Amino acid sequence: MVVVRLLLLLAVVAGVRGGEDADASRTYIVRVDADAKPSAFPTHAHWYESAVLAASGPGGEWPEGGPLIHTYSAALHGFSARMSPSAAAALAGAPGVAAVVPERVRHLATTRSPGFLGLLSSPPSAILADSDFGSDLVIAIIDTGISPAHRSFHDRGLGPVPPKWRGVCASGPGFPPNSCNRKLVGARFFSAGYEATSGRMNETAEVRSPLDNDGHGTHTASIAAGRYVFPASTLGYARGVASGMAPKARLAAYKVCWAGGCFDSDILAAFDAAVAEGVDVVSLSVGGVVVPYYLDAIAIGAFGATEAGIVVSASAGNGGPGGLTVTNVAPWMTTVGAGSMDRAFPANVRLGNGQVLDGVSVYGGPVLQSGKMYELVYAGTSSGAASASSSGDGYSASMCLDGSLDPAAVRGKIVVCDRGVNSRAAKGDVVHRAGGVGMVLANGVFDGEGLVADCHVLPASAVGAASGEKLRKYIASSTQQKPATGTILFQGTHLGVHPAPVVAAFSARGPNPQSPEILKPDLIAPGLNILAAWPNGVGPAGIPSDGRRTEFNILSGTSMACPHISGLAALLKAAHPTWSPAAIKSALMTTAYIKDNRNGTMVDESTGKVADVFDFGAGHVDPMLAMDPGLIYDITPGDYVSFLCNLNYTGQNIRAITRRPADCRGARRAGHAGNLNYPSLSATFVADGIKPTMKTHFIRTVTNVGGGRSVYHATVRAPAGSNVTVQPKQLAFRRDGQKLSFTVHVETAAPVRAKKMEPGSSEVRSGTLTWRDGRHAVNSPIVVTLQAPVQ
Ligand SMILES: *[C@@H]1O[C@H](CO)[C@@H](O)[C@H](O)[C@H]1NC(C)=O
Ligand SMILES: *[C@@H]1O[C@H](CO)[C@@H](O)[C@H](O)[C@H]1NC(C)=O
Ligand SMILES: *[C@@H]1O[C@H](CO)[C@@H](O)[C@H](O)[C@H]1NC(C)=O
Ligand SMILES: *[C@@H]1O[C@H](CO)[C@@H](O)[C@H](O)[C@H]1NC(C)=O
Repeated sequence: MVVVRLLLLLAVVAGVRGGEDADASRTYIVRVDADAKPSAFPTHAHWYESAVLAASGPGGEWPEGGPLIHTYSAALHGFSARMSPSAAAALAGAPGVAAVVPERVRHLATTRSPGFLGLLSSPPSAILADSDFGSDLVIAIIDTGISPAHRSFHDRGLGPVPPKWRGVCASGPGFPPNSCNRKLVGARFFSAGYEATSGRMNETAEVRSPLDNDGHGTHTASIAAGRYVFPASTLGYARGVASGMAPKARLAAYKVCWAGGCFDSDILAAFDAAVAEGVDVVSLSVGGVVVPYYLDAIAIGAFGATEAGIVVSASAGNGGPGGLTVTNVAPWMTTVGAGSMDRAFPANVRLGNGQVLDGVSVYGGPVLQSGKMYELVYAGTSSGAASASSSGDGYSASMCLDGSLDPAAVRGKIVVCDRGVNSRAAKGDVVHRAGGVGMVLANGVFDGEGLVADCHVLPASAVGAASGEKLRKYIASSTQQKPATGTILFQGTHLGVHPAPVVAAFSARGPNPQSPEILKPDLIAPGLNILAAWPNGVGPAGIPSDGRRTEFNILSGTSMACPHISGLAALLKAAHPTWSPAAIKSALMTTAYIKDNRNGTMVDESTGKVADVFDFGAGHVDPMLAMDPGLIYDITPGDYVSFLCNLNYTGQNIRAITRRPADCRGARRAGHAGNLNYPSLSATFVADGIKPTMKTHFIRTVTNVGGGRSVYHATVRAPAGSNVTVQPKQLAFRRDGQKLSFTVHVETAAPVRAKKMEPGSSEVRSGTLTWRDGRHAVNSPIVVTLQAPVQ
């Protein structure tokens, strides 16, 4: 019967062919119901291949391996293949096919952090001791590969590889078969999806092996689970012990990011391998896309991993400080934003007029002559002593784009470059090659005051928007007789900086563009100026002309924040082996803090003003408290299905994520998407200017993990203009593992002058629900968003 249907399908597909040479093939990811395989096919791969061949008709040409790029059987069931859009459309309606999703390309979203997080103490802190540093756990790093010989990945003193590990160590150029050890227990690479779209890779520029010839993957892996290395520093900065969050956890590197980006079909292959091979945590510092979850390959792969009990921690993205920029927002993932630490690398800019501008840098080569003032030039201004532009194109020159600077005008001078378009390190290289002796990298208004310290190829410092404005004015007011001058004062590494943490300017912000019922990001972790391992074959500035070599490098990004949470999740799982991924996330979130080291609410680096829940989610991670959260908000895979039902996804859409038909009747009766048992509460209302108040309620269930008998009392800091009531106000637990439920009613007043709210604008009000038993404080943010009608 099934065979007959499949044959029918093939006929239909063949029938719709014709006149479609215009529709070029591209890669599709196809999810299937594994149980629907017709018995005529000996394996799933046979089935998939025959379906694609038939759908593509006689004209299809395939590389030697056949039409399939990858087949998936652990995190999901299905395959990826190149097809024309019409063949894909026909396949989508076929029996046994749950979803056909076009591939997308992603991009990478970059040590004192263990000390800052309270993990470096003697004797070892409780979290490290209780979990034996996470030695039975394997963390998958889905990234640019790894540099295997690095000291951070040495296996001295580690016990045997955990017996449950079923992974492999793929070899290739620069990655001999003995590259893995008891620390780096697995390494693989996935390039078939990349090469199916971009053509064969250039094997001079990149290597067909797990070797990291970018640096990003080595950096993120060592943040999650690098071993203790002393002394570690980059070109003299940030000297001290380098260590990952879980220094004894094992690493498995899955290389999916190449010169042309990170392709969904390869990312899914990595998820599939990681699930099959027995990892405990997946760390994914790769950017997301804003599409519904059933079209998002990362959300789909992460669901399969979560079902298998694997924690998936992902970077929130670097699209901040604007709102609605957060990515990787599915509720089954942990979405990590970036904060600063109490460490800075000041490199102030002194001007000829006596002004001193605050700047930062981790430049580590020969410095400028002490006491000497250098001439300053800015190519973006036509007035002033000199124009540095080679082509008269002031815009390109102001950005210091390649070839835009006139060597005659910049030789021996310090060049001011505007931030944007090309990379910060590339600007330094452009100035250096044009003969400049130094660079000041100035933020524009849009960048605000957020600064990133880079390992430039020449003496250079980064300054904020206000300083950039002063600098440009000063240069514009200079004359031939009285040229603008300045110098950069490098001050090394400063510790004990206040305030810290602050939310990094680039860290992506909420609200959650896919489902505002779930607050995202979930929390923040250190992601600004992070010292971690660096491959031997790559210069610290990350540009080909940088011939310097350094064992560690300082990078910034939510890419660096994410592996902090991945490593901590491994420690939590080691200490609490029965906890689900949701329980681990709950522990991290409900114990996070929102105060900085001045005892004020954390501020936003881009403005210096108080940050809010859309910036930091539940707050900044506190590893010690997360070990003993008292209560957890647990979530089962079935709860996520109810959530998807309440997003009004169709059965077909839900099946694309969960690989099972969903019955939504019960879930829809039970309420709304905000009832997912999440550790934060988010209510969104349309303020139509008529209703004076709006209300909703949330149902939550907490599990006692705090040790036996305990009585918790609820306290609420209500969002402005809102009344919040919790029922019951007291939860009396008799034993560990016991679950008790409560409801939270939120009633909020319409905005004052609601009618005057700009169409499409919104007002955000936030508060906190805290359950206390005298030993634990279990915090959940409450956020109320009032949206003005679109029109
Ligand atoms: C391959 O990469 C090398 C090194 O980056 C470059 O010199 C060469 O031109 C590239 N070859 C092709 C065919 O792009
Ligand atoms: C921090 O501020 C709160 C009030 O906002 C105050 O109750 C608390 O005592 C302060 N803590 C410290 C250590 O100053
Ligand atoms: C789903 O549909 C119901 C009924 O039409 C509606 O009340 C609810 O707001 C919808 N939910 C979402 C998340 O769109
Ligand atoms: C909150 O409660 C107070 C006192 O019962 C009441 O006067 C007020 O109208 C309520 N506000 C809202 C927004 O429901």
